Amino acid sequence: MKRKLFLLGILLNGYTLTAQIKLTSKNIDAVIKEMTIEEKANMLVGYSFGKSYWGLPTNPDPNAGAIVLGAAGNTAKIDRFGIPHTVFADGPAGVHISEERLGDSKKYYCSGFPIGTLLASTWDTDLVHQVGIAFGSEVKEYGVDVILGPGMNLMRNPLCGRNFEYYSEDPFVSGFIAAAIIDGIQSNGVGVSPKHFAANNQEGNRTFNNVVVSQRVLRELYLKGFEIMVKKSQPWTIMSSYNFINGVYTQESKDLLTTVLRDEWGFKNMVITDWTNTRNTKAQVAAGNDLLAPGNAEQIKQITEGLKNGSISMADADRNLKRILEYVVKTPHFKGYEFSNNPDLKAHAEIIRKAAPDGMVLLKNDNGILPLNGTAKKAALFGHTSYHLYAGGSGSGDVNKPYVVDLVEGLKNAGFAIDEILTGVYSKYRDYAAQEAESEMGTFTSSSYFPRPRIKEPQMGVFTYTNAAERNEFAIVTVGRSSGEGSDRAFEDFNINDDEMDMLKKTYEAFHSKGKKVIVILNVGGVIDSSPVQQYSDAILLAWQPGMEAGNSIADVLTGKSSPSGKLTMTWPEKLSDIPSTKNFPNGFTWRDEIFVKQDEINKMPHLGETKYEEGLNVGYRYFQTAGKKVSYPFGFGMSYTKFEYSDAKIQIKNGIYTATVTVKNAGKYNGKEAVQLYVSAPKGKLDKPVYELKAFAKTKELKAGESQKLVLTFTNYDLASYDENQQAFVTDAGVYTARFAASADDIRQNVEFKAKAQKVQCQDVLKMK
Ligand code: BGC
Repeated sequence: MKRKLFLLGILLNGYTLTAQIKLTSKNIDAVIKEMTIEEKANMLVGYSFGKSYWGLPTNPDPNAGAIVLGAAGNTAKIDRFGIPHTVFADGPAGVHISEERLGDSKKYYCSGFPIGTLLASTWDTDLVHQVGIAFGSEVKEYGVDVILGPGMNLMRNPLCGRNFEYYSEDPFVSGFIAAAIIDGIQSNGVGVSPKHFAANNQEGNRTFNNVVVSQRVLRELYLKGFEIMVKKSQPWTIMSSYNFINGVYTQESKDLLTTVLRDEWGFKNMVITDWTNTRNTKAQVAAGNDLLAPGNAEQIKQITEGLKNGSISMADADRNLKRILEYVVKTPHFKGYEFSNNPDLKAHAEIIRKAAPDGMVLLKNDNGILPLNGTAKKAALFGHTSYHLYAGGSGSGDVNKPYVVDLVEGLKNAGFAIDEILTGVYSKYRDYAAQEAESEMGTFTSSSYFPRPRIKEPQMGVFTYTNAAERNEFAIVTVGRSSGEGSDRAFEDFNINDDEMDMLKKTYEAFHSKGKKVIVILNVGGVIDSSPVQQYSDAILLAWQPGMEAGNSIADVLTGKSSPSGKLTMTWPEKLSDIPSTKNFPNGFTWRDEIFVKQDEINKMPHLGETKYEEGLNVGYRYFQTAGKKVSYPFGFGMSYTKFEYSDAKIQIKNGIYTATVTVKNAGKYNGKEAVQLYVSAPKGKLDKPVYELKAFAKTKELKAGESQKLVLTFTNYDLASYDENQQAFVTDAGVYTARFAASADDIRQNVEFKAKAQKVQCQDVLKMK
């Protein structure tokens, strides 16, 4: 191999490459100096082995075997400098690689962790950090250097097909949860690539979509989470998104990738593109998009020629290269780490099982029917998802996991008897429905990459329900949804459809006529219309997509072995049309449209070529609380088996840091944890502001009945600032602010006034709306 490179070098350059320095963390500049233009170009472009994961033109090296099968990409290697390939694999719900190894029949699965939305719903940065540590150890032990995640775009609208990978409609939640998982993953000596930077808030036409958004809204909402995360965690890499912002591709935006990200926020590391084919290579290099991924031969050629004819600046290329090599020297591959291919999946399963209930949200619990008392043991399970839970979503965010514990298994493990007649009916129906779904998928059936169409519930007569009510002590109805990369959800996916209404209503009526209760499990990756579910249920548990231990985690909550302590990180509206962005959001654009409709036509379609963020700051609770508009469930909402009292709220100020404290008491009968939110209302100033905005949050440990804990929540003067476009600055007005210690955006428990000093943090006049 070395000899081939050597000969290639002579051919390409006409002279012999004699340099023999080997890369270390101390000689990066010297190595760059020694590199030929061709070598530089190779390193600046990602390396795809043979047939690429994405089917894009590749950069084939017949001598190289894939290091990790199914990984999304790699960096190039140069033997003469001792630069190895490094490996990027997808996340964010686990390590997304193939379970196969070349020449080995054994399967190497990765843990299926709960989706990002569930992790955020824990509001528990310590717990998310622990999950990150386990996750990072799988990254390392499977020979991966960087996990392509976490996903941290804001949930602008419930229909975004990738919301399940994301954290919240609020940038403070997104930023702090992202930082927690990143610190956990990176503590293993591997890296992350938080994505997709920035404003990639819809899947419809994601590679050509132009986001039209004001500087203020961009700074306060869509960039804020990334800003918090970068300042706290310095991820090894960041992934620039596919879309345009105000007419410029983010991957080609020096304003975004250099001025804001590096100059203003202090990001020191490598930026990689989301997986794109050739774009404007020259602009990408100039912008500070260090690595072009997944990489192809055309890009290498363009950089080589550009560097030779001067149209690409050598200084820019060297700067980018330096950041790539600074990354390389940190990686396990560079350090020669001998990965085991054998992470402790058993231990991780335990962590997953215990973590998931902390992010599950109890939405309803009439008469405290949950946790189930020890005598109700015979359960009738309705809804095809009861028999086949969704552990996560599809697309790059999927994971090849060893198993998913379904609800039947989970409940049986917990000692319940599951109605076998229904089990038989659903298993037959599922085979038939799966076939139907496959036939709808057409030629794409073999790919698990694409989201499957929604499977309708079986139409069953009233007697099926009344007989089941006769045979069993209670009913569980699961409503499921799965979505994934490349497609947005349609209105139908948000709504409860006729087949589901039929099932909910018939179950409720049959069981209630016998004085028996109905529990609804929502096994979803995003917001749905919960009103019909409220009408036909006694209890509702929003279980999200909880990872591979799904059925066990849900059973733990139902029995009270675990107490649900999740709270919503997004508003659940009464109607989709109540959300201001809905009128500027595509309705159910799918990967099929992307493949079969001509790009020119797509670009002309509403909210696809261009999406106007006309709602401004009116996103989520900022809108609903300010407008006083009713919702199904407010941001921050989540019940517990116990109840909590707040007292003694205080704020102290020292050196521009505000330390807020509040005592939380478990005033109920069960053990439980409480997530406390701190919203702040600003004094009236020049800018219009939401009535209050979240600035900090914290979660108690598990409190026993009667036990109290003093929580400490901190924020800074800068956190209070709003972005003033006239001054191009984050401005904190002087005056009296009100801190609101709350159980949800709609449940303020204590108010404390405090004074803030004026502050102005100057920014650059960039990313302007044209
Ligand atoms: C997705 C990214 C992913 C990358 C590599 C892209 O299509 O948007 O989230 O990390 O592919 O698989």
